[in-house]
Amino acid sequence: MKRVLILLPLACVLFISCLGGQNLSGNNMKDAFKDKFMIGAALNQSQYKGDDIHAVNIIKKHFNTIVAENCMKSEKLQPKEGHFFFDDADKFVAFGLENNMFIVGHTLIWHSQAPAWFFVDDKGFDVSREMLIERMKNHITTVVTRYKGKVHGWDVVNEAILDDGSWRRSKFYEIIGEEYIKLAFEFAHQADPDAELYYNDYSMAHEGKRNGTINMVKKLQEEGIRIDGIGMQGHMIMEFPSYEAFEQSIIAFSELGVKVMITELDLSILPSPHATAGANIADTSDYENKLNPYTKELPEDVLRNWEERYHGFFSLFLKHHDKISRVTLWGVTDGDSWKNNWPVKGRTDYPLLFDRNYQPKPLVQRIMQEAYKHQAEDLLVKGK
Ligand code: G3I
Repeated sequence: MKRVLILLPLACVLFISCLGGQNLSGNNMKDAFKDKFMIGAALNQSQYKGDDIHAVNIIKKHFNTIVAENCMKSEKLQPKEGHFFFDDADKFVAFGLENNMFIVGHTLIWHSQAPAWFFVDDKGFDVSREMLIERMKNHITTVVTRYKGKVHGWDVVNEAILDDGSWRRSKFYEIIGEEYIKLAFEFAHQADPDAELYYNDYSMAHEGKRNGTINMVKKLQEEGIRIDGIGMQGHMIMEFPSYEAFEQSIIAFSELGVKVMITELDLSILPSPHATAGANIADTSDYENKLNPYTKELPEDVLRNWEERYHGFFSLFLKHHDKISRVTLWGVTDGDSWKNNWPVKGRTDYPLLFDRNYQPKPLVQRIMQEAYKHQAEDLLVKGK
């Protein structure tokens, strides 16, 4: 009864202030989402080295988890066999430790951004299965051991499954077979038994990829291999995925008994080149304008639709906060985003929560209000 008396008025105050649209800009996302999930961002070099001071301020204020956007990829860490380059990754990890953040290492085994030497012998032929396993083991063991107890979770394998659920025919798959997945998780676990280990992939709302991922994780679990979570990369566009399909995957993955993480979140506002290619466009400059239409300003209605869609995803994440352990944006400000250069180079995109002037978009306040509303509702439920 005493607890009810204390909690109820507090909940009401929070609830009313949120519904009243009180300005929460003084608050930060990590507090707003604190009982729900960790919130974080992928960092680039100028951020973890401290050069981009305005971005650093945003990161410290709003995020409690970080992931390396590029500096922990195998091409960066081991450009030549046996020659490890740890300077950047060390700085990234130091930044996270100094700021008490949950640090995620990305990524140990990925077909892309792996150095060419990894797969070939000195004559340029594919290495044997045994040799590739040995190289995988050496890479994973060296990297994970270096950051033992410091990096809290690893994207062990990235993007191994295609949209239809079949195995990606990567060099790892071609030379070792599907067992490379299991081996990668085993090597990582041996190097740091306390680190969380994840599988991370994009387009996870596709039924084929969802089922392929489920089959793979189930098999690992049956074989007694440690896997703690599934990262659902959130590279959204305006047309894909639907909330329903994304939600189905959140639920299905969580039913495996692993953590679900929304990784690599961004929402591109730009038209898809595939859709535009089919349109009736008279000349090249017309085509370029159609592909890159918002270099100077964003029309109000376009921005509104983008914000609604982003807000909808955060509402979905809050609804399933019991399944989701982390939401990580793939970058801090629009100016940093890889989306400015993919799938078309040199565009002006607006996929993140902070603009090119380091200002939070109005969406930040909206999603924090939504989170506080959830906090207040939780308190009311607990108080009953
Ligand atoms: O390192 C060079 C640098 O020396 C040079 O000055 C600069 C000039 O363009 O290029 C730099 O390398 C680029 C690097 O990003 C750093 O900006 C590479 O060309 C470019 O290919 C690389 O792109 C990264 C991409 O992965 C490939 O590794 C993106 O930043 C990064 O956001 C993206 O992240 C991936 C995730 O790891 C996995 N999921 C998909 C996601 C998006 O592709």
